[in-house]
Amino acid sequence: MSFDLIVKGGTLPDGTVADIGIKGDKIAAIEARIEAAAKSVVDASGNLVSQPFVDPHFHMDATLSYGLPRINASGTLLEGISLWGELKPLLTHEAVKERALAYCDWAVSMGLLAIRTHVDTCDDRLLAVEALLEVKKEIAPYIDLQLVAFPQDGLYRSPNARENTIRALDMGVDIVGGIPHFERTMADGTRSMTELCEIAAERGLMVDLHCDETDDPLSRHIEQLAYETQRLGLQGRVAGSHLTSMHSMDNYYVSKLLPLIAEAGVSAIPNPLINIMLQGRHDTYPKRRGMTRVPEMLKAGIRVGWGQDCVLDPWYSLGTADMLDVAFMGLHVAQMSSPADMRRCFDMVTKVNAEIMGLDHLGLAVGKVASLVVLDAGNPIEAVRLRAERLCVVARGKVVAERPKRDTALSIKGRPASINRRHVVPPQVN
Ligand code: FE2
Repeated sequence: MSFDLIVKGGTLPDGTVADIGIKGDKIAAIEARIEAAAKSVVDASGNLVSQPFVDPHFHMDATLSYGLPRINASGTLLEGISLWGELKPLLTHEAVKERALAYCDWAVSMGLLAIRTHVDTCDDRLLAVEALLEVKKEIAPYIDLQLVAFPQDGLYRSPNARENTIRALDMGVDIVGGIPHFERTMADGTRSMTELCEIAAERGLMVDLHCDETDDPLSRHIEQLAYETQRLGLQGRVAGSHLTSMHSMDNYYVSKLLPLIAEAGVSAIPNPLINIMLQGRHDTYPKRRGMTRVPEMLKAGIRVGWGQDCVLDPWYSLGTADMLDVAFMGLHVAQMSSPADMRRCFDMVTKVNAEIMGLDHLGLAVGKVASLVVLDAGNPIEAVRLRAERLCVVARGKVVAERPKRDTALSIKGRPASINRRHVVPPQVN
């Protein structure tokens, strides 16, 4: 057998050293040593080879708009929403598309090859929906893009949002979104969630709601989301994003809540960079961390991924499309410091996020789509520790980004540095 591309000698996340043979856009062989001919070869010896990074929560219609028309002075979620409201009337189809495509280039350079983006459906023009549907088509050869119809200003609170959200779904948007905690009342939030889940059930779609993104311990829409998922038979197709109120909830209530979420098969998508930045802003001290209870959810058997949410937009003034930054922050805020937990944080931004998005074609196995990333690290924990450089990114069988290996450390004041940060004894993973 001959191959189009062989990725040689890489270390897989489970520690196996193997060659990966690619034919067309598929992985055709994974073996200890492939001797067959190939049109091209990537030398991955000494490097980690992983399935690509996946971001299950993003806002591509807002990305790279930082400073337009001004910056978020208070740093709160609510000022971010009103700032986005100032920017929306100024948006053009071309500008949204240009920024989204620029971000996708960043994503590819970081080995981020699948993204779920929410797209605001409160603007009657739905120009961001049109623009991102075009982007989705254009980047399909290298990025899987899922769109979520997202009534940012509230399904009932914003005029026409309900009709616009349905129009967006009719136009081909993949997933039903919402923001129950931003409706006028708790009751409206509950009602919006019921209606959105019913729309998804009727259309056979997935659901991904911004849910309880607040420090209010009594914001309990996640309970209703689990209930609607059960009632409508949506198990495995529903995600609750953020869930930050859970941080502040009564412990007894949470002990009842977590089994309900697990039983309903609802996935959780915390967004550590943005949650640690936006939440707790009304606190003095002690100041709440503002992230949901990740280790506890994992222990309860709930599927949890890490999302990025924002890069350079009204809510977040930093970001680089690097899912290792997301895993690094998540690991710290959730205090997931054991070797097994650190390793799990890497899996969350690759394998688990792909599962949440239903991307069965991704993975390092024969027959899967040949999308992968070669990292300048020896194992997943080291990749997180270093936020390792991407040396090569392969999308659907084609090399789409490459960077030369840097074998030597920086010199310090003219002397060769004694510290090469890659060369450490990797921790034993239990
Ligand atoms: Fe979001």
